[in-house]
Amino acid sequence: MYSFPFSANDLSRMKQAKKITAITGAGISSESGIPTFRGEGGLWKNYRAEDLATPQAFAKDPDLVWEWYDWRRKICAEAQPNQGHITLAKWETIVPGFTLITQNVDGLHPRAGSKNLLQIHGNIFKARCLNCGNLSEIDPEKPREVSCSLCFSKLRPHILWFGESYDQDLIASCFETISSSDLILIVGTSANVSVPADMAKEGIRKGAFSIEINPERTSLSELVDYSLQGKSGEILPKLLDEIYK
Ligand code: OAD
Repeated sequence: MYSFPFSANDLSRMKQAKKITAITGAGISSESGIPTFRGEGGLWKNYRAEDLATPQAFAKDPDLVWEWYDWRRKICAEAQPNQGHITLAKWETIVPGFTLITQNVDGLHPRAGSKNLLQIHGNIFKARCLNCGNLSEIDPEKPREVSCSLCFSKLRPHILWFGESYDQDLIASCFETISSSDLILIVGTSANVSVPADMAKEGIRKGAFSIEINPERTSLSELVDYSLQGKSGEILPKLLDEIYK
């Protein structure tokens, strides 16, 4: 039985929060069987990002890069959202001002029902035209298209690669949302990537009540109001029940 460390005042702050932002990372999907990036068994332990997740790698060997994303997309397509994803989608139905910012490209948040969702690192089920930027869906059941349906140029995975710039409008909207949030949830991220980590720090700096959920401590653990150590698929449903009981 998980016992939360919250005071009555903490619980009332969380219950009254009208604007809530959750920031998620690969850890929320690990209970669905999708590998994380860092730590034991992490993708970056077994694969070199330079060979697979940079524009240079794609220019050098597009087939190899596509092959790696095809393999990962298959894992994502076969995975199911877990209680962590499901709880965040449910939370959005309780609090209309709930926004979910995810670093994950695996599509499990939308499949769990999250609607107010900002996917800052792209989506593994989408391809983008190198010439016109048109986005197209990749149906994991069908052979993948190799050229753009509009201009017939080459397609690339719609993923933010190392060395690439974030979509500035998207990032501005994330910072705007987080800086006016009453409650922020930081779930399953190592906080190793500076832009999402800075978003969390901005929310904390602006006075949001902040909770981290992660089996391990991170550089944000010292800064948040509570760092709850454990799996998000186990803690998130209990947290929602505790707040709205
Ligand atoms: P990481 O792989 O860096 O970190 C995963 C985090 O999840 C770690 O802190 C784990 O302790 C935690 N974790 C593991 N299992 C968990 C569970 N069941 N519940 C909760 N937490 C758990 O993944 P990210 O922080 O998402 O970027 O990595 C950020 C970005 O780095 C990714 O989006 C990717 C990568 O390079 C791009 O591909 C652009």
